[in-house]
Amino acid sequence: MSLLFDRVSLSLGGSPVLHEISLALADGEQAALIGPSGAGKTSLLLLANTVRRPNAGQLQLLGQAPWSLPGQALRSLRRDIGTVYQSPPLPPRQRVVNAVAAGRLGSQSLAASLAQLVLPRDTAAIETALTRVNLGERLWERCDQLSGGQRQRVGIARVLYQAPRLLLADEPVSALDPRLAEQTVRLLTDEARSRNATLLMSLHSVELALAFFPRLIGVRQGRVMFDLPREAVSEAQLAALYADEQPNEPRPIAEPLPWNRPC
Ligand SMILES: Nc1ncnc2c1ncn2[C@@H]1O[C@H](COP(=O)(O)OP(=O)(O)OP(=O)(O)O)[C@@H](O)[C@H]1O
Ligand SMILES: [Mg+2]
Repeated sequence: MSLLFDRVSLSLGGSPVLHEISLALADGEQAALIGPSGAGKTSLLLLANTVRRPNAGQLQLLGQAPWSLPGQALRSLRRDIGTVYQSPPLPPRQRVVNAVAAGRLGSQSLAASLAQLVLPRDTAAIETALTRVNLGERLWERCDQLSGGQRQRVGIARVLYQAPRLLLADEPVSALDPRLAEQTVRLLTDEARSRNATLLMSLHSVELALAFFPRLIGVRQGRVMFDLPREAVSEAQLAALYADEQPNEPRPIAEPLPWNRPC
């Protein structure tokens, strides 16, 4: 199993956010995570990449229980887990080439990592990853010269370059036009399939989820509402998943995530 959650719960700022989530993804499996805003999709992905630690329950990633591992082993596990974020954490003045190179920083010695930050050695492979997201010619540009959609694609190139065994993507196409969104979801599903990597992707578009994923996991109010092969998902289940909720409660003030802290 690449991912195994056994009654995993998470609270943030004192409020429960995920309730007893049980979920298993086999090696090479691909699943889409869908559900309304605030359902807990991002929170679930942050548990799956060990940015967050559960308050209760057991979880295993790539066959290991991350929170029982010594530091070195946890770092090594994290190198095998790649995440595409909705707004990738790109320092504004960083060059595109360095932003992609950061995908493999953890897999080198400190000295090699620092050298890589100044002048990446592996520019050919980095350019190949950027070419796959149609940004091959932007290698030497600064990240703050890119549009939101281009920055999102730099985040995707970074994870292509990292080549992780467990690939997580949190609304990776939210800033892309419909044609590019479809191309990009196809790119990520093809990439995962070709390397037998496991892919879990949250999507706001049910259409894209149904078109590209054999399995859909519906999350609502911090619970898994359904976890089904796409053929088995009914219109009624989708309507219930997205049905109007009680008026939005004010969002708690969130502590900044590591990549949103000012540099
Ligand atoms: N740092 C935080 N502190 C407190 N509550 C939080 C924090 N981050 C998220 N939450 C709450 O957890 C719940 C789930 O949020 P999450 O971001 O996981 O939802 P989501 O399904 O990804 O939504 P969206 O589709 O809008 O991205 C929400 O009620 C949210 O307000
Ligand atoms: Mg989210």
